[in-house]
Amino acid sequence: MADNTRLTTTAGAPVSSNQNSKTVGPRGPVLLEDYQLIEKLAHQNRERIPERVVHAKGWGAHGTLTVTEDVTKYSRAKVFKPGSKTEMLARFSTVAGEQGAADAERDVRGFALKFYTEEGNWDLVGNNTPVFFVGDPYKFPDFIHTQKRHPRTNLRSATAMWDFWSLCPESLHQVTILMSDRGIPTDPTRMNGYGSHTFSLWNDQGERFWVKFHFKTQQGHAHFVNEEAEKVIAKSRESYQEALYGMIEAGDFPKWTMFIQVMPEGEEVQFEEKTGWSAFDLTKVWPHGMYPLIKVGEMELNRNPENYFSEIEQSAFNPSNVVPGIGFSPDKMLQGRLFSYPDAHRYRIGTHYEALEVNKPKCPVAHYHRDGTMPFGLRTNPDAYYEPNSFGGPVEDPSVEEPPHRYAGQVGRYDFRGEADHYSQPRALFELFDKGQRERLCANIAGAMQGVPQFIVDRQLAHFDKVHADYGAGVRKAIAEQPRDDAEASLSTSHSAAAE
Ligand code: NDP
Ligand code: HEM
Repeated sequence: MADNTRLTTTAGAPVSSNQNSKTVGPRGPVLLEDYQLIEKLAHQNRERIPERVVHAKGWGAHGTLTVTEDVTKYSRAKVFKPGSKTEMLARFSTVAGEQGAADAERDVRGFALKFYTEEGNWDLVGNNTPVFFVGDPYKFPDFIHTQKRHPRTNLRSATAMWDFWSLCPESLHQVTILMSDRGIPTDPTRMNGYGSHTFSLWNDQGERFWVKFHFKTQQGHAHFVNEEAEKVIAKSRESYQEALYGMIEAGDFPKWTMFIQVMPEGEEVQFEEKTGWSAFDLTKVWPHGMYPLIKVGEMELNRNPENYFSEIEQSAFNPSNVVPGIGFSPDKMLQGRLFSYPDAHRYRIGTHYEALEVNKPKCPVAHYHRDGTMPFGLRTNPDAYYEPNSFGGPVEDPSVEEPPHRYAGQVGRYDFRGEADHYSQPRALFELFDKGQRERLCANIAGAMQGVPQFIVDRQLAHFDKVHADYGAGVRKAIAEQPRDDAEASLSTSHSAAAE
């Protein structure tokens, strides 16, 4: 019998039976010495790892980034070499639902990419929206709590969501996108992806450019309205997995065109003077009219995972994974995420999560981190286990030092909410929508506000009014026209009256 067809224990010993446990006589009892039975049950008890605290439900595939244009004047990153092809992994997700949540729910979609470049992994952990709900990482856990289950009812609470959003007008832009047609893409291939944050690129001359990353779907946008999504969910909770997996199995490989917007370092000052927006504010976009999209290449997904758990569930994306030629920016949210993700992975997967096959760089890895759980494949020179050493251990390479960031300022806790303009960009978006899109936006908001106390609804309506008179009026009209869902209303009002 060939080795790989003979069943063995995890220690490699051949197994005589995988059907019948070892018993005293044919009726039992079972013996404690039946190590294989005990091992099998014990392993099953350890099959689950904690799900992601957010973005728990996901779908992913492997693919290729092909660079068709020359952007080397902005970045020395090897991944941007004209004509190059880089292996990559994509994981798409919803944000709020647990691992068993239905795919076709209204939610922002995660758009996480890992590029296995020859100078290390570059992860771009974005969303299908160019902006986000909050502008300070301090607020992220509070925001996420409003999206998850209420501690008493264990149900999601519309009251919590609108209470938070109406108290944080910086969320208006993202709320408008979420409630618009694009809030429920039909499947993960029919949506754009955005790096969202401002990152930076730096070139061989040490010049830095601020950058935003965009991936535009070549499949075309397609969305469900609420009623269509409800029908899909009634039939299948796994519609995205079915679509993505099915397309790739059929050889119908989904593609996105990659673009960047580029702002030379220093120009952020004029940008802010001219527009009133910070170039590093995650609740704002850079208008295309000011910073046109520059084509970089094409991303294609062309290989399904062989094992969902080890290639998608255990994948670990870090906004902190950049490579020489790509850097960060002062964006506060980005800075917060640089800490949060590796910390999440060490907890969710384990210390050496980056040694797992799916996370492992496809270039040599040489560091001095030692021991801990599962240090797979850490092939270290046994005498060079500290640094500096005289025994040929790996050494730093000053040639990849990035140009210095020019930061100066007074340390403090700055409130950007009060004086900031939270309304002009949602207005620009609202003005893009035709009559039907506006009506659906307002109806979706009215539906999502079912059961929310009037004082919270009024506070939110005042924000819609400031965006556009037709926005506030449209939501008021939709609220007045919608049939009242008393069951949902009573569940949404799960907060104590004291809050009022
Ligand atoms: P443009 O007219 O040049 O761009 C409009 C953008 O809006 C396009 O990228 C389009 O994406 C996108 N869009 C269309 N419908 C929706 C929707 N329902 N939800 C989200 N995005 C949508 O204008 P500006 O660059 O001046 O931006 C105007 C507004 O457009 C912004 O305030 C912002 O809300 C939105 N937007 C801007 C982006 C940017 O990076 N500048 C990116 C995405 C949205 P597509 O081409 O794929 O159809
Ligand atoms: C997942 C934190 C903002 C996109 C996660 C996870 C954490 C987290 C802890 C789970 C990671 C894991 O267990 O693997 C934060 C914090 C944020 C923030 C603290 C703000 C300060 C954002 C923003 C975006 C984003 C702005 C998009 C622009 C994602 C995506 C995933 C994710 C796509 C799933 C990645 C995957 O597929 O594995 N986030 N997040 N997050 N986040 Fe965030």
